[in-house]
Formats: sequence, C-alpha cells, structure tokens
Amino acid sequence: MSRQTDIVADSPAGVERAAALLRGGELVAFPTETVYGLGADATDDRAVAAIFETKGRPQFNPLIVHCADAEMARRLVVFDERADLLAETCWPGPLTLVLPRRPDSGLSLLVSAGLDSVAVRMPAHPTAHRLLAATGRPVAAPSANRSGAVSPTTAAHVQESLGGRIPLILAAGRCEIGLESTVLDLTGDAPALLRPGGATREEIKALIGPVRLPDADPERPLSPGQLSSHYAPRAGVRLNAQTVEAGEALLTFGPDLRKGERMLNLSETGDLAEAAANLFAHLRALDRTGATTIAVAPIPEEGLGMAINDRLRRAAAPRPGA
Ligand code: TXA
Ligand code: MG
Repeated sequence: MSRQTDIVADSPAGVERAAALLRGGELVAFPTETVYGLGADATDDRAVAAIFETKGRPQFNPLIVHCADAEMARRLVVFDERADLLAETCWPGPLTLVLPRRPDSGLSLLVSAGLDSVAVRMPAHPTAHRLLAATGRPVAAPSANRSGAVSPTTAAHVQESLGGRIPLILAAGRCEIGLESTVLDLTGDAPALLRPGGATREEIKALIGPVRLPDADPERPLSPGQLSSHYAPRAGVRLNAQTVEAGEALLTFGPDLRKGERMLNLSETGDLAEAAANLFAHLRALDRTGATTIAVAPIPEEGLGMAINDRLRRAAAPRPGA
C-alpha cells in the first residue's frame, strides 16, 4: 500500500504536525545526532508493531526508547548510581542505557521484545528534542531504513528507503554523528557494551570503571537478536496446534469459533499487525492462567507473521537446564 510521504523542514508547524501524527499512532521519521529514526509512540502496541512491519524486520529486536529529558526516562526505567552519573554527564547525547523496566512504565511490551529491561536515550539533536517535548510521550525509534539497508543520515536517504510507507519525514539536514548510539547494558553488576557507537568506551570507563566488551563472555551472547530466547513463558509452548489438550491454554489467530477462559485470539480478523501488537501481552496473560502448556495455532509465515513465528519458535525452544 503506497501513501504520500511529505518531507517537512524543522519549524514550529512541522514539529507540531509530526507530534500530532505520533500521538495519533502514526510513524514519523525524524533526525537525531546519530542517524534518522523511525519513531512511534512507545506506549502504543499497534504503533510499535507498525515499526517492524514498515522496516520489514524479520525479527522483533528490542528498540530504543527516546526521551525528551532524563525525568521522562526515570519514569520508565530504574536508574542506579552508574546510570545517574552517565545521564548527568553524557545526556543529551549518543549513549543508550539498558535498565530495568518499571512495572508501571506504560510502555508496549513489544518495545523490549518481551524483555524486563528497556533501552533509553535522550538525543542531543535540537529537532529531536523539540519533537519529543511536543509529543509528550516516549518514542521508540530504530534507524529509519528498511531492514538490511544502511542507516540513513539525511532525509533523502529516508525517502529512498521508506518513501510511500510513512506519512512524514521531519527534516533537518545531515546527522552529525552518522553512526548509531552506544548501547550500554547496566542490568548486571558488570556494565556491558552491547553496541559500540557515538559515545566511546574510554569516556564511559572514566565515569563508571571497566566496561565489558561484547565478546568478553561467550556464555552470554550480548546482542538480543542472537539470543535463543528473549522471553520464554513459564509454561511450555506448542506450535502449530490444531487441537487443545487437557491442561493447555490456547493462543489462536484468525476466525476461531472455540471459546474458553484459557483462550486468547491474537487477531480475530487475521490482521498480523494486530497480532504482533498483542503477542507479548497475550503470552503473559495465558502464562498467568497456570496452564502447563500454551498451544499456539498456526500463523502464516508472511509479512509480520515471520517475526511473530520467530519469536514463538524462540519461546518454544528447549530451555537451558530444562
Ligand atoms: O542512534 C541510535 O541509537 C538510533 C537513533 C534513531 O536513535 N537508534 C537505533 O535503534 O539504532 P535500533 O533499534 O536500530 O537499535 C537498538 C539497539 C539494538 O542493538 C538492540 O539490540 C539494543 O539497542 N537494545 C534495545 N533494547 C534492548 C534491551 N532491552 N536489552 C538489550 N539491548 C537492547
Ligand atoms: Mg538499525
């Protein structure tokens, strides 16, 4: 489906229009000091699902949540002393912190691909800051390109990659850094560098001490995209289920006449974007029923269905130690 993509220069009216689109659940591309981001309201499941659909991402990788200021970030995740120090010194700027999600954050579960942590950052670009402040909400944003393509550093790059798929590109010239932010995991005792980027390891080390490198511990793969399991429910998961056995809950998809307390439908109309938006919340709800196993009806391996099935296969994979 093709639509017109407007490129609008940074101006009070342009920022207002972009903010209104974001609040309405639409996607907007916007400049940051690193690369252009493809933004969506991070509290809106459907808008976040639309990011994956628009990028053509085969997997649900966790996304970075962009905040207007540190106060907004503090309402979403729990800061420790290291995070306090880094945010005071490096924000706004190209440093992303992975921290424990607050239970009342209001963020879509899809934002962190079902993990209990969230990556947050406060961009330094003035246009990004104006947009985030005007939107008044946290904004999830991966780089604004189709999956597999190079990250965009101009509005024209974004237009080449996503033109016809999003309503608006907020434009402000070339991104100064042109390379994504540094991603630092602070959920464990030892800070771990998940992705090198705009903020250097030396800078970080000077503030909080030694930082573990991605390949330092082969037991713990650091890019969540490579983890065999991001989020596995307590219950077992059985894929491509045609029937429901005793003790099982059912996660179904599309028109289904079966009804039951332990049954949830990802999308009665068979809409894969709606299914993606519901996936993590439904898995968690069925897990809470106490079922031994969650039976999952077949989901088409097309469009967002590929990402949904990838995630479900990981949830069904043998557990370490099981
Ligand atoms: O510079 C940037 O960071 C750009 C601009 C738009 O801000 N954004 C960006 O987002 O590069 P994205 O989605 O392409 O990269 C997200 C990175 C991935 O490496 C992902 O694995 C990691 O952050 N990440 C996100 N949430 C995480 C989490 N909860 N735990 C561990 N890693 C996480
Ligand atoms: Mg990217």
